[in-house]
Amino acid sequence: MLRAVAAALALAATPAVAQDGAQLFNMQCRMCHNGSPMGPSLAGVAGGDIAAKSFAYSPGLKAKDGVWTDENLDAYLKAPTTFAPGTKMLVSVPNATQRAAIVAYLKTLK
Ligand code: HEC
Repeated sequence: MLRAVAAALALAATPAVAQDGAQLFNMQCRMCHNGSPMGPSLAGVAGGDIAAKSFAYSPGLKAKDGVWTDENLDAYLKAPTTFAPGTKMLVSVPNATQRAAIVAYLKTLK
């Protein structure tokens, strides 16, 4: 019985993290992303090319090559202007656990 509960909890772990990320996203990101013209849509951003949406990106972010891997998303959210000097997004997420939850949630945005 206990073992079944533990297995169920383990299976639920990933969606639960994305769920937390959804709440954090709604509080800290949605005012500019997804439904607001202030920032680019983040649908499909995880795993996609950096600065590839139709949006007036800063030269700083446009100058970044590569894709939004977990590591790049984490680095950008931790310290946007360190990752991409000159970026227009100045919002950061200092807490590593919260960043991981937000990145997990970004992966659910298609
Ligand atoms: C005050 C408005 C604002 C808030 C709040 C905000 N962003 Fe942004 N975000 C932007 C802007 C503007 C850009 C484009 C930056 C540039 O061009 O340098 C951007 C870019 C991004 C990108 C890169 C998109 C791409 O197409 O390459 C990601 C990822 C991102 N934001 C995630 C987040 C997350 C996650 C949060 C919440 C923790 C958040 N943003 C909060 C305005 C915001």
